[in-house]
Amino acid sequence: MEAKYCKESRVVRTSRVFPNDVNSHNTLFGGRLMSDLDQVASISVLRHCRRDCVTASTDSVDFLHAIRPSDAVCFESYVTWAGKSSMEVFVKIIAEDLKSGERKMAATALLTFVALDQHKRPIPVPPVIPESEEERKLHETAPERARIRKKRRQKSKELAVYLTTNHPWD
Ligand SMILES: CC(C)(COP(=O)(O)OP(=O)(O)OC[C@H]1O[C@@H](n2cnc3c(N)ncnc32)[C@H](O)[C@@H]1OP(=O)(O)O)[C@@H](O)C(=O)NCCC(=O)NCCS
Repeated sequence: MEAKYCKESRVVRTSRVFPNDVNSHNTLFGGRLMSDLDQVASISVLRHCRRDCVTASTDSVDFLHAIRPSDAVCFESYVTWAGKSSMEVFVKIIAEDLKSGERKMAATALLTFVALDQHKRPIPVPPVIPESEEERKLHETAPERARIRKKRRQKSKELAVYLTTNHPWD
């Protein structure tokens, strides 16, 4: 399968912060940000493999700076690494003060998606070719993160055995 460059899956999206998007501190609501970053990441994986994909997990979303209504929210995402059927996507969110032009790293996230065939079974995806220093760093460190995720998934499965699915009122 032909490898793809990170730039082939790059998604860039810039949006405004409207009154419906803020929390009681008048900064961007975290849930809104997470929904938007899942959307941009999902476009990156589709650009990479051109197959149906599902979100398998999110490692973390690190909120580094609050985003204010006077900021533009700039999302950038791309596929950093691919396993057999899974793809790691990096998303960075930059807050741009629209009056001063100052740009701050507001949040970063790493998500994993899995490509599926028509029977909803995992299928192979193209490998990734990193080019820039940032892409190379993320690519090099990805196998170790994938290994940690495998362990975490196993632990979640073990824990699930003990969790109840009953209605809370039963
Ligand atoms: C994700 C999913 C497709 C995995 O299916 P599965 O039959 O258990 O697949 P496998 O165990 O063979 O794993 C397939 C790949 O996914 C990866 N994977 C599975 N679960 C993962 C997780 N939680 N985090 C990271 N990677 C995961 C595996 O490491 C494997 O990677 P590889 O092919 O690159 O080696 C399945 O669990 C699923 O459909 N989950 C629900 C997804 C969903 O509803 N998402 C929200 C809406 S899009």
